[in-house]
Amino acid sequence: PEEPLTDTFGRQHSYLRISLSERCNLRCLYCMPEDGVPLQPAENLLSNQEILKLASWFHDQGVNKIRLTGGEPLLRKDLVELVAGLNQLQNLDQIGMTTNGVTLSKLLPELVDAGMTHINISLDSLDADKFARLTRRPPAYHERVMEAIEDCAKYLPYRTKVNCVVMPDNVDEMEAFAEMTRQLPVDIRFIEYMPFNDNLWQPDGFISYKQMQRQLPGLQRIDDGPNDTTKWWQLSAKNNNDKGRALGRIGFITSMSDHFCGTCNRLRLTADGQLKVCLFGETEVSLRDLMRQEEGGSTDMLKKVIHYAVQRKHFKLGGHKDMIDLKAHSTENRPMILIG
Ligand code: GTP
Ligand code: 5AD
Ligand code: SF4
Repeated sequence: PEEPLTDTFGRQHSYLRISLSERCNLRCLYCMPEDGVPLQPAENLLSNQEILKLASWFHDQGVNKIRLTGGEPLLRKDLVELVAGLNQLQNLDQIGMTTNGVTLSKLLPELVDAGMTHINISLDSLDADKFARLTRRPPAYHERVMEAIEDCAKYLPYRTKVNCVVMPDNVDEMEAFAEMTRQLPVDIRFIEYMPFNDNLWQPDGFISYKQMQRQLPGLQRIDDGPNDTTKWWQLSAKNNNDKGRALGRIGFITSMSDHFCGTCNRLRLTADGQLKVCLFGETEVSLRDLMRQEEGGSTDMLKKVIHYAVQRKHFKLGGHKDMIDLKAHSTENRPMILIG
C-alpha cells in the first residue's frame, strides 16, 4: 500500500466525492443561483474513463469510500457503467450517491446491481406545493421523490438517508419528517443551511442545531461513526414493549454551529476535474489539465500533486472563521451546484 493522504493536522483522507454533472433538473434556492450557472462545453468535463483513472489513483492512496454527487448525478448518461467500473476497485467499502431522487426509481435496481451501496436523497418538504416553491420546479416531481425514497427503503434498507436543509419555510415539518423513521428503514438528517455564492443565505434565516432540537424533544442520543458529519439520535419507542420503535435514525449536520472539521476525511473532484481539498476552500488544482497534458501527466506526478494539495488544506472551513466570514467570502467559492 502507498502512503495515505494525510494532511498537516494528521487527518487521513479516505473519502472521495466525485461530481458527475454541473446540471440539475431542480433549482433549489440554497444550491443553484436564481439565474442558473453558465454551462461549460462537454469536453471540459471528465469522461468516465478519466474519472476511473483518477479514482484508482486515490484508491491506491487509501480512499475506501466514494460518493457520486452533482449537480444531479442521475443526469449522467453513462452512470451505471461508471458505478460498475468503480466497483472493480478492490478495497472500496462504499459507493454512495447523493441525488434529488426525481429520476431515481427506474434506474435503482441497475445501480444496485452495478455496485451502488448507499443513497442519500435530498428532500426539503413533504408538501408538493412547498417543494415546488423551494425547488422552483413543478409540484408533480414531489411524488417521484417520495417514490424513490420508498424504493430505496426496499433496495438499500438502512443504507438510505434523506437530507433536509432546515429553513424558516420547512422548520414546522421536522416532526413529520422524523416520523418517517418509524415507517421506513431510512435515516433522516436535518442540515444547517450553509452560505455559498448567490444562494440567498442570510443570518436571520439561519436555523441552528440548538433551534432544531427544540422542535424534536425527547429523542435518544445514539453513537456517531468515526468520520461522520452527523450527530445521531433516534425516536424513542411509543411504549415499553418497544412497539413503534423507529427503524431509521435522526441526524443533525451542524456544519455551521459546531463544525466537524477535526475529523474531516474528505476530498472532492469537481465535474470539470478540479481537486478541492475542502468544501469551503477556494484553492483548486486541475487534475484534468495535468492528466490531459500533451506528454501525458505521469501517474507519479499526479499522485504527488494530490499529496501537495492535501498538505495545503486548512484546519477548518477552508481557512475561514465562521459562517459570517464564509458568507463574506462566498463569492470566491463556487455555488454548491458546481461543488457537490
Ligand atoms: P454520508 O456519506 O452518508 O455520511 O453523506 P455525507 O454527509 O458525507 O454527504 P451528503 O452528500 O449526503 O451531504 C449531506 C450534507 O453534509 C451536506 O448538505 C452538507 O451540509 C454536509 N457536508 C457534505 N460534505 C461536507 C463537507 O465536506 N464539509 C462540510 N462541512 N459539510 C459537508
Ligand atoms: N446548505 C446545506 N446543505 C446544502 N446542500 C446543498 N446546498 C446546501 C446548502 N447551502 C445539500 C443538498 C444535498 C447535499 C449534497 O448538500 O441538499 O443533500
Ligand atoms: Fe472538511 Fe472543509 Fe468540510 Fe471542514 S469544511 S469538514 S475541513 S471539507
